[in-house]
Amino acid sequence: MSVSGLFISFEGIDGAGKSTHIAALADAFRAAGRTVVLTREPGGTPLAEKLRELVLNDAMDPLSEALLMFAARRDHLGLVIEPALARGDVVLCDRFTDATFAYQGGGRGFDLDVLGQLERWVQSRPDSTALRQPDLTVWFDLPPAVAAQRLASARVPDRFESQPQAFFERVAAGYAQRLAGDPARFARIASDQPREHVWRQVREAVEQRGWLRPAGASA
Ligand code: TYD
Repeated sequence: MSVSGLFISFEGIDGAGKSTHIAALADAFRAAGRTVVLTREPGGTPLAEKLRELVLNDAMDPLSEALLMFAARRDHLGLVIEPALARGDVVLCDRFTDATFAYQGGGRGFDLDVLGQLERWVQSRPDSTALRQPDLTVWFDLPPAVAAQRLASARVPDRFESQPQAFFERVAAGYAQRLAGDPARFARIASDQPREHVWRQVREAVEQRGWLRPAGASA
């Protein structure tokens, strides 16, 4: 019997605390017998990881930044995400296109219509008129002031992490706008809570869609 692939992306401002929950969800899917591909953007392929290095560390104008994000995405979709979905794997991707709309669009103020055009080019599929989008996007929604406190104790910041709080207010507004445009795709997770509560919400969002059995349920 063939299983369908599942594509889940994870979003939020820097410091929102995605990583541990992505790892926990990977464990939950593996325990349910699924093959999991854990990946990230920008990145996920040798070329896209090189582009990541550039875009996180080198100064550039907003158009170059947006183009590099989508160039990395194109490579990642073709080499990793689409083949994994075709095999029936679960793809857990730390950030995807919503991050471009939030960071380059909201944060940097770059033209949303141009981003929409790039999205249509990069995420078009030969076999469908619908664009490739995640089946679910988990948005860790954390107030920027709280994220700033968490980041203050973090390692050396990159070009995005070093931005002022006002930048992250715009990024958060960018995520809210993406959610408003496609609410069924999103699970908004109130993330200013103990880690266990956040994890419960993440797990429930996946269970509600029928992709994992409720924790503790018999097989
Ligand atoms: P992040 O996912 O936070 O990784 P880490 O936990 O290793 O810091 O870092 C990626 C950064 O790239 C983050 O600051 C957001 C930014 N970014 C964009 O600006 N646009 C995009 O399209 C993507 C995918 C990421």
